[in-house]
Amino acid sequence: MNIAKTKHLRGEVTIPGDKSISHRAIMFGSIADGITEVTNFLEGADCLSTISCFQKMGIEIERNGNTVTVHGKGLHGLAAPTDVLDVGNSGTTTRLISGILAGQQFTSYLNGDASIQKRPMKRIITPLQMMHADITSDLGNDCAPLTICGRTLTGIHYDSPVASAQVKSCVLLAGMYADNETSITEPTLSRNHTELMLSAFGADIRSEGTTATICPNPILNGQKVAVPGDISSAAYFIAAGLIVPDSEILIRNVGINPTRDGILKVALAMGGNIQKQNEHTVSGEPVCDLFVRSSSLHGITVGGSIIPTLIDEIPVIAVLAAFADGTTIIQDAAELKVKESDRITTVVTNLRAMGCDAQATEDGMIINGGRPLHGASIDSYLDHRIAMSFAIAALNAEGETDIKDGECVNISYPDFYADIKKLTD
Ligand code: S3P
Repeated sequence: MNIAKTKHLRGEVTIPGDKSISHRAIMFGSIADGITEVTNFLEGADCLSTISCFQKMGIEIERNGNTVTVHGKGLHGLAAPTDVLDVGNSGTTTRLISGILAGQQFTSYLNGDASIQKRPMKRIITPLQMMHADITSDLGNDCAPLTICGRTLTGIHYDSPVASAQVKSCVLLAGMYADNETSITEPTLSRNHTELMLSAFGADIRSEGTTATICPNPILNGQKVAVPGDISSAAYFIAAGLIVPDSEILIRNVGINPTRDGILKVALAMGGNIQKQNEHTVSGEPVCDLFVRSSSLHGITVGGSIIPTLIDEIPVIAVLAAFADGTTIIQDAAELKVKESDRITTVVTNLRAMGCDAQATEDGMIINGGRPLHGASIDSYLDHRIAMSFAIAALNAEGETDIKDGECVNISYPDFYADIKKLTD
């Protein structure tokens, strides 16, 4: 993918469905009774992996564009898979489905691509084993491939060492197949889509502070789920509108759940000109349109409890920082090292390739912004968020930028380059 500096960005973009919410709608719909109709489903490769896993367990799932109909078979209606469940590149599929599989009456095998085989699974293996699940990392390295022999589980309280919605969701989903209540406390609150959506499906689930608790054996009923636009995808257009001179972009249909909206808080604190319009609620999730204008930005420190609310946006926040005056410090974000790539290394390496003064730290990075950037050869490391973040940097970098394996944006945003092009025309 080759991207040149652009004079300005003008127009509207409608953001595709939220990846986290799309995954959950398929999973919960599959183990609910009756039909779940999902609209504005994200047709990205990760969410398609989730669909294919449930189809392999006997769930009929029909796709008609971004409307998906799931014929749920109830909490105990999944069938033993006929084949290995292929999770592709998707950490969310792997970790959430493991919680469901741990409570089944059959054995399943999970595997995915080279990246997924390096993602840490100890974080779910530990609490699942505390619940007496039988889950093994086949190569003994605490990564996929995984073998899960389903059985009845034991309800526990788990103090999670990491603020991770994937870990939290895995434990809560397993908790539905346990003999007693299950709860999990995380160090700071991570995204709460599982709690909101499971409750709408009829589960007895409650949240207090950073603790979520679920009662076993719920009756889940199929729902209509309208998926809001993904703020993690909107983040690229927020950044583009702010850093490219003479730009005005209306970004439509953005989910602004407070456990996800850290990018907005950071962009505003850096001096970004962003207005929320048309605030409303869709399937229990807050949504709005965002009007973004070019802004002169300044560096800030980003750390602490805001980190889980913007964890996937840190690569593009780093790009904002490169165009901001002064120093930006990103801290408390060691989780970046275990995403689709080691995002501390991949962000800093690529920023430097474009002429930015950036250095990696143990738990984040320090970026001295304000120098003009130049086009460069960027390696996406097959990480969709790295490809998209540096495509945005390229829009305001002198000359041209090549993004290696740029098509990996298909994981979460298949129309990304086409949507950018519409704003440059
Ligand atoms: C996700 C949670 C986050 C996020 C990922 C999606 C989810 O991961 O980075 O892209 O849908 O629950 P962690 O739970 O590992 O922080």
